[in-house]
Amino acid sequence: MGKANELPIGVFDSGLGGLTVAREIMRNLPMEKIVYFGDTARVPYGSKSRQTIERYSRQIVRFLKTQEIKAIVVACNTATALALDAIREEAGGMPVIGVIEPGARVACAETRNGRIGVIATRATIGSHVYSDAIHAIMPSANVIGKACPLFVPLVEEGWLHDRITDEIIMRYLDEVLEYQVDTLILGCTHYPLLRGEIRSLVGDDIVLVNPAYETAVSLAAMLKEKQLMNTKKPEAGEPYPYRFFTSDEPQRFADFANSILPIDVGSARLVAIEEY
Ligand code: DGL
Repeated sequence: MGKANELPIGVFDSGLGGLTVAREIMRNLPMEKIVYFGDTARVPYGSKSRQTIERYSRQIVRFLKTQEIKAIVVACNTATALALDAIREEAGGMPVIGVIEPGARVACAETRNGRIGVIATRATIGSHVYSDAIHAIMPSANVIGKACPLFVPLVEEGWLHDRITDEIIMRYLDEVLEYQVDTLILGCTHYPLLRGEIRSLVGDDIVLVNPAYETAVSLAAMLKEKQLMNTKKPEAGEPYPYRFFTSDEPQRFADFANSILPIDVGSARLVAIEEY
């Protein structure tokens, strides 16, 4: 096995939410090392323009490339929707995986009535990238997209099980449910953290697609195909092979990460991302 296999995977997001993707990679690919960057200084991306999201994403790719990585996972749905081409260009020949295509593929495999709902940020819904990806696989699908901009602050505030959160979920989802979708894509990094709440409100008949999990599955397939899978087990007592970087408030980042990851994150390091 060549040394390239043992290099970490670079994972990035506009902030904390992409840790849901890192969590799935940790669970499903436990031998893989991860370098995570969360752009907490500039979050949210979901209300920003394509030019800005492309510029931010390029800076992050340039930073990640200084960390000797073997592949990039764009954990952020918004960055995937608006900047994937720019990210691929900046990455050079390095493999890049976004979260949208894996989520769209599974939704098409799961739907029985061809009616698929997508909930995401305004920028992601406005880009139509999810519906384009679904129609490329299933041209007859009926897709309804709904921006749910209040979900991100609710999750960041920790209001995961709250009467107000339930009311807001139903306010957004009413229209989607009226459309009689049988499959709903949770098309934003933060939404899998509301999954239990959404499940109890929409009932058991609707399939909830978590692109974070599907991305980890696609990543595994891609690493295998490119012979980049790490098969070297960590030595006993070795520190967790995960490094965390953020553009603001490393302590808040570490606290949030500790609350959702199955490991002790230790600390996160601050990066002046505008310099990249
Ligand atoms: N990470 C973003 C996404 O998945 C949500 C937060 C933001 O708006 O930046 O779309």
